[in-house]
Amino acid sequence: MDANKVQIFDTTLRDGEQVPGCKIDAKQKLVIAERLDLLGVDIIEAGFPVSSPGDFTSVNEIAKLVKNATVCGLTRAVEKDIEVAAKALKPAVRGRIHTGIGTSESHIKYKFKTTREEVIRRAKKAVSYAKNFVDDVEFYAEDAGRTENEFLAKVCEEAIKSGATVLNIPDTTGYCLPEEYSAKIKFLKENVKGIDSVILSCHCHNDLGLATANSIAGAIAGARQIECTINGIGERAGNTALEEVVMILKQHPYLNLQTDINTKLLYDTSLMVREKMGMPVQPNKAIVGANAFAHSSGIHQDGVIKNRETYEIMNPEDVGVTESAIVLTARSGRAALAYRAKKIGYELTKIQLDKAYQTFLQFADKQKEVIDDDIHVIMKQVSRISKIAIA
Ligand code: KIV
Ligand code: ZN
Repeated sequence: MDANKVQIFDTTLRDGEQVPGCKIDAKQKLVIAERLDLLGVDIIEAGFPVSSPGDFTSVNEIAKLVKNATVCGLTRAVEKDIEVAAKALKPAVRGRIHTGIGTSESHIKYKFKTTREEVIRRAKKAVSYAKNFVDDVEFYAEDAGRTENEFLAKVCEEAIKSGATVLNIPDTTGYCLPEEYSAKIKFLKENVKGIDSVILSCHCHNDLGLATANSIAGAIAGARQIECTINGIGERAGNTALEEVVMILKQHPYLNLQTDINTKLLYDTSLMVREKMGMPVQPNKAIVGANAFAHSSGIHQDGVIKNRETYEIMNPEDVGVTESAIVLTARSGRAALAYRAKKIGYELTKIQLDKAYQTFLQFADKQKEVIDDDIHVIMKQVSRISKIAIA
């Protein structure tokens, strides 16, 4: 594999689907899985097969359908979970079992009421057991973000010895700072025997709004897989947003880290996930929000009309958005009005524009946004006084 390729592990259908209020049935999951495959993700985490018969069936159907991506199923470090996941994944061209256990003091003490030694024993047993069914076994050290690095390194080393091919280092509670998460990945790279034979994976939650920053910091420190969801959906404040990490790597080529994602499908995929899962996206969401490429202040509009790059660091077409939007409000200037008027057929002289702008301000003060229908009305009013050419 190319040493600079960052694999994209999509967990929209597993961690993303855990979000309260998410409505999706098995048929719609198949449509999303097919789209994720087309988008170019490397791994689709299709579900947690032991959790319900419905989840088993959808992982199984996705395993039959998907032809390019690896299809992955989540398990706890429990033999029954692993057997059920293996059965669900059987038809997959490439199947992966994702197994693991909590490694932080709080998980060991309160969740499992056990010892570090016992956690290591269970981790080894789970990975070895999963290897009976598939070659590709990913091990997760749940709450790795709050796990002491020396102990985490020990668990990881044992998971590698037991046959893990990928080590997932989740910041399950979204607690880490980017420096801390980066140092954790670096520590593992430097202190775990056999680390170069496996892929380190970032799985960051967004409780402090740092999921994307932590994932990128992890990749810069040497991780070569990022676990993420479309629109960043997921438990509590969500997971790392796929569209964000992909575009950060694309827009910062000096990092020399690439993905195989067809970025032109990002916006459409985002719309599909919103619609099928019933999960709306806030307008100011990076990359795919309704306002991500919309300009409303006069100063910005003037700049963008002269040259898009004055206020945009990426081309909207690269993510599948047809063009930047110039939104007309009371904050807009003459340049924006002339631009939008021209788009719908009116070529204005300087005098006509001055007149139209005064009428436009009256509209804009009364309503939040001036739309194309309003511009037609404005032009009609102005043309009574001065003839306007249709462009
Ligand atoms: O956040 C987390 O730790 C997880 C694991 C189950 C991989 O989702
Ligand atoms: Zn998670």
